[in-house]
Amino acid sequence: MRHFLDLADWTSTELRDLIQLAVHLKREWQSGGNRPVLQGKILGMIFQKPSLRTRISFEVGMKQLGGDAMMIGPTEIGLGQRESVADVARVMSGYVQGIMARVFAHAHVLELAQYASIPVINGLSDAQHPCQAMADIMTIYENFGRTEGLRVAFVGDGNNVAASLAVATAQFGMHFSIATPEGYELPPAARELAAHLSGENGLQLDMVTHPEQAIEGADVIYTDTWVSMGQETESAAREAAMLPYQVNAKLLRRAQKDAIVMHCLPAHRGHEITDEVADGPQSVIFAQAENRLHAQKAILVKLLA
Ligand code: CP
Ligand code: NVA
Repeated sequence: MRHFLDLADWTSTELRDLIQLAVHLKREWQSGGNRPVLQGKILGMIFQKPSLRTRISFEVGMKQLGGDAMMIGPTEIGLGQRESVADVARVMSGYVQGIMARVFAHAHVLELAQYASIPVINGLSDAQHPCQAMADIMTIYENFGRTEGLRVAFVGDGNNVAASLAVATAQFGMHFSIATPEGYELPPAARELAAHLSGENGLQLDMVTHPEQAIEGADVIYTDTWVSMGQETESAAREAAMLPYQVNAKLLRRAQKDAIVMHCLPAHRGHEITDEVADGPQSVIFAQAENRLHAQKAILVKLLA
């Protein structure tokens, strides 16, 4: 049984095949519609946190592939509270053909996968956001026609999105640099894995504190919110620490002239990114958001068809 919990569980070749499948499914959809390869399949979507992109793109993706999806909101099943994570996994396995879960603790997606007899997809945990990283890679590939040798710079909080991106870039032959304030670096597990993969593939991995240093010569500039879901009580400290890490026009000038700007969204305009940059000619944030749909369809086909 294959799950999609962590990019590290998939080889670089498998991930490249998934991106090619995503490109194919996007083209197929745009030229009249996808074949109903998931007919009769239902995806159960557990959300412990809010969502726009993940929730809609998974449901729409399932429907475009001939299947269906069901939203289970934060107040409904009380994952690990009203009922144990293991029992939720066992019960849902009798009703639906796949589970997509957005959780707080990464351990909860692992536990769902351990006890489910159906594939489980990580739709964001505190540690990782692998589906986002696949849409990000697809967007970079579409913009440059390749991934090999490109330089990706992440500026801001070393969070779940940054952690998955660090691993994904190494798996797709890209150099990665990340600038974070002290205390907000990538978590050790992501750092070690990214370092291992980069070393293996002869790639550069730079973890620095100055945004200018990370962004110098970059082909891709990426940022995310300074306050992730569940960290709201830390808002003031985070905003203060990350103020110098705003992606604005001045910072962008240090990147390559044809560099693209990415953000997983939701954006907090005027905080981690300015309007000028988010809506500027180098921004690909809405194409990137759309690619969540196409990249996830490939994951769904691979796991459920
Ligand atoms: N990027 C992302 O996962 O968006 P949502 O939180 O809206 O799903
Ligand atoms: N880092 C953000 C990503 C949102 C898609 C969060 O976890 O809230």
